[in-house]
Amino acid sequence: MIREMTISDLEGIQILQDEELKSNWSETLYKQELLDFNTIAFVLILDDQLVGFVLGKMLVDSSDLYQIVISKNAQGKGLGTLLLQAYWDEVIKRGGNASILEVNSKHKEVIAFYTKFGFKQLYIRRHYYGRNRDAIIMKKEGDVC
Ligand SMILES: CC(C)(COP(=O)(O)OP(=O)(O)OC[C@H]1O[C@@H](n2cnc3c(N)ncnc32)[C@H](O)[C@@H]1OP(=O)(O)O)[C@@H](O)C(=O)NCCC(=O)NCCS
Repeated sequence: MIREMTISDLEGIQILQDEELKSNWSETLYKQELLDFNTIAFVLILDDQLVGFVLGKMLVDSSDLYQIVISKNAQGKGLGTLLLQAYWDEVIKRGGNASILEVNSKHKEVIAFYTKFGFKQLYIRRHYYGRNRDAIIMKKEGDVC
């Protein structure tokens, strides 16, 4: 089941983040995001367990995708795609027509994941994460009517 993220999910999200992302997002930061009407955040629940989440933000008619995570033992089964689809559907529902993200160029499997979903490389930020550690900026656009 995919549903909107709530404050009560944050403990499980912090665990997933520590295991899979090792980013420095604090519980306070997640709380702030959840209080923002422009935030789009969903969790994936399987057998009462939180196994994934996605979080991003609407910025006028586009969205910035910040984080998407599936727990290690649930990866490679199409669940990340389901979450990303839920996120993208919400972007469209809110009147958006594009989504932008940043990914470490070393993470080829993550780039493959986004590419399969329709994201395309926009440009590279050289040395963004440190020496010889580049960021790739990717964008997905909706259908133009
Ligand atoms: C990136 C992530 C969310 C993908 O979720 P997932 O459920 O494993 O992905 P899916 O099963 O939906 O894969 C969809 C497609 O992505 C690509 N893909 C996913 N994992 C891949 C891997 N390890 N190697 C190569 N391609 C991969 C494939 O094209 C796959 O399609 P296929 O199964 O038909 O080959 C998940 O691997 C993850 O949480 N990784 C750790 C956290 C992270 O780095 N998040 C992104 C930055 S915030």
